[in-house]
Amino acid sequence: MIGRRSIPYLRSIVYVRNIVYLRSITSLRSNAYLGNIACLWDILRLRLLYLPVILIGISFLSISFLACIPVVQPACAAALSAAELTAIELPAAEPSTTGLSAKEELGKRIFFDEQLSEPKGQACSECHFPDAGFNGVGDVNITIYEGVMSGRYGFRNPQSTAYTSFSPPFHYNYMASILRRGYVGGQFWDGRAKDLVEQAKGPFLNPVEQNNPSGEEVARKVCQSSYANLFKEVYGMDACDNPSAAFDMIADAIAAYESSTESNRFSSKYDWYLKNPKKYPLSKQEAFGFEAFTKSLCFFCHSSRPGQYSDKPLFTNYTYANMGLPKNPDNPWYNMPPSINPAGKDFIDYGLGAIVNDHEENGKFKVPTLRNVAVAPPYGHNGVFKSLKEVVHFYNTASFPDLWPPPEVPENVDRIGAGDLGLTEEEEDAIVAFLKTLTDGYTPPSSSVPTHSR
Ligand code: HEC
Ligand code: HEC
Repeated sequence: MIGRRSIPYLRSIVYVRNIVYLRSITSLRSNAYLGNIACLWDILRLRLLYLPVILIGISFLSISFLACIPVVQPACAAALSAAELTAIELPAAEPSTTGLSAKEELGKRIFFDEQLSEPKGQACSECHFPDAGFNGVGDVNITIYEGVMSGRYGFRNPQSTAYTSFSPPFHYNYMASILRRGYVGGQFWDGRAKDLVEQAKGPFLNPVEQNNPSGEEVARKVCQSSYANLFKEVYGMDACDNPSAAFDMIADAIAAYESSTESNRFSSKYDWYLKNPKKYPLSKQEAFGFEAFTKSLCFFCHSSRPGQYSDKPLFTNYTYANMGLPKNPDNPWYNMPPSINPAGKDFIDYGLGAIVNDHEENGKFKVPTLRNVAVAPPYGHNGVFKSLKEVVHFYNTASFPDLWPPPEVPENVDRIGAGDLGLTEEEEDAIVAFLKTLTDGYTPPSSSVPTHSR
């Protein structure tokens, strides 16, 4: 298991490193790029300093860190914010999809195959529809999707199967623990699947989803399908001989499709803008929204710059946070029979906390990508928000007394970039306009399409 508690002294080192890290940014905040370089240097340099740092007394520095973090954190944020505001020139985004490889094509056939449920009729794509950014079907009135068995529901809003292939395998990261978000990566809202291959097997067997009795049964269906030859072409003529191994191959093919350029298109207006801000500018309102997004520190979790997982911005850093979302009273899970939901209406979704069995992680959910978010309502792990405007208004005012129902899990609520942002109505609307620039499939007006020499 992830030995977070087993090596607590490492955590103290992170605290120590943090003080220097954050202070370096404070002193350099007039030049944010320099500040970022200094941060990186500090991180590298401090790796060499672990031993002396331990010697000069972890406990003293930990206490001083705790005392000063509220002061330096906003300064760090301001420095990063300034850097965000500078337009970045990136290598060309690839707005058009290239052809799929044989394995990706196989994964696609499986992903869209309605025969692979029990009874037949439900494909992965039913809850991960391409036009809705592979995130539900984009119908605001459907929060929780019914499984293939009528009347059976899970308790969460689907996530996007796009841009999730960049999520690293689930792990604990001491650097990320700087902001109390040490767990990173994995799949699902609560990170319970280590990676995409492990994830892909889940829905086939989940009784509230495709409800197959076994992986072998799914393999048998694929081996009798119209694309069985493609399956053998990719995994060998004997691929169907061992149904248990074949189930692993099926998951592998799905993961390949989820990692393909058809799933991860990077073809939004924002991608075109990054490619060439002068030629493909954002509108005035969108640019104002980007400023407000940056000023509000949304990028802390929904990174709008290239990062360690991709050379293009993913609008998530795959960490986990409790944004204090209220319960969604319309969640059909509350009315499921006690055999499925013994807690009834008192059910509480602890997210990551229940998976790692640590109350300090209660209420935390994986930061979703904001790519294609405009076409994928409703929002949040429980679908409590119906519109983007509502989400942004919540972030802006969540800590105002009596304006919102209490958080489902009041512990560990994160108030960086949320709570009381002081945004005007105009800024809220502009953030929504900016989020709409993240929808894939954008075609720039013909006058701005570059002309190719023949
Ligand atoms: C009945 C609806 C439904 C079906 C069918 C379904 N899913 Fe999902 N999917 C969900 C929900 C709901 C979640 C979030 C569940 C959670 O976090 O507990 C999810 C989460 C995921 C995730 C995690 C994404 C992330 O960002 O972590 C992936 C990947 C995924 N599904 C792929 C698939 C694949 C592949 C199939 C078909 C084999 C499939 N799903 C079938 C509803 C569905
Ligand atoms: C501390 C990290 C963090 C910050 C900062 C943050 N978010 Fe989020 N965001 C999350 C997490 C975690 C969720 C999922 C919460 C849940 O479902 O419980 C989320 C959900 C969302 C969603 C819903 C997406 C979906 O697919 O359901 C939107 C939209 C969003 N955030 C926009 C923003 C905006 C705009 C800002 C800045 C005002 C912002 N976020 C700041 C972590 C963050």
